[in-house]
Amino acid sequence: MKKLIIAALFTLPLFTHTFAFAAQEDQISAAASLKLNMKQIGKNLKAIVATVNDSSKNQDNAGLAQQAAEAFQAVYNQVPDVINEMPADQQPEAIKGFQQEIQKGIDLFTQLKDAFLNGDNAGAAQILKALSQLKQDGHDQYNP
Ligand code: HEM
Repeated sequence: MKKLIIAALFTLPLFTHTFAFAAQEDQISAAASLKLNMKQIGKNLKAIVATVNDSSKNQDNAGLAQQAAEAFQAVYNQVPDVINEMPADQQPEAIKGFQQEIQKGIDLFTQLKDAFLNGDNAGAAQILKALSQLKQDGHDQYNP
């Protein structure tokens, strides 16, 4: 019995740590790293893609799109490694270019939310294509 209690005492902090980390992973904020924000965007996009033609999911998908727009908003003020590694005098211009691309993500996810709220599933499917292209272009340049 004593051994069991000691084992429990040792395991408890491990569990608390794991749960705290899981909660943190789901969180969207300026404090989350660029990578965590991107992962959240990817997760939401995947769920939306799987259900884009199911109009019973439009409310849920509008919420997911809104959350992804907010994650992109947080990314707007973050700087990718490729830019941090550039000579200091080139960074301001590179950040401008990065932010222009990220703004497209904010705009597209906002349009996607509106399409779901308006019951426009065909429009939503079109916006998903544009998002897929944006991801491709963004990663080619900033996440090589
Ligand atoms: C819908 C569009 C997008 C999705 C779903 C997406 C998704 C992701 C995911 C899942 C990762 C993490 C990969 C890993 O586990 O290492 C990532 C990383 C990254 N993405 Fe995106 N992305 C999108 C658009 C963009 C755009 C437009 C840009 C730049 C303008 C961008 C820049 C980056 C960068 C710099 C990283 C590396 C982060 C790091 O590890 O520090 N992404 N993205």
